Amino acid sequence: MPKLTVTGVGTFEVPAGKRLVNALVDECGLDQLHACGGVARCTTCRVEFVTGEPATMTKAEREVLVAKGLSGTAGLRLSCQIACDGDMEVRAISRLAGTGRKDCGSRPTDAIQPPPEWV
Ligand code: FES
Repeated sequence: MPKLTVTGVGTFEVPAGKRLVNALVDECGLDQLHACGGVARCTTCRVEFVTGEPATMTKAEREVLVAKGLSGTAGLRLSCQIACDGDMEVRAISRLAGTGRKDCGSRPTDAIQPPPEWV
């Protein structure tokens, strides 16, 4: 099983292929935001990779990062668009605490949405 490390929080074993956003919630116990429900629209699921950043991304992730002016920010990726296929370390930079939001967002489905086109 891949190991997911969240800087300052701990290291957790994660089922292979699990969506990173759901692993941050389920295995790591984080209040990770996912306001759009994991469909590559809000960018609140963003994390900052320390190690293990995937080489590919979904077309939907690329498009929303460009649209929000976040493209090209080193290590910044959308956890709803990433599967845990290997060991990785991320910084949790977008959490519910302190935001004033009522919740983290509706639960993302198990499969990446929209259906991924890898680029
Ligand atoms: S972009 Fe909204 S949860 Fe990922």
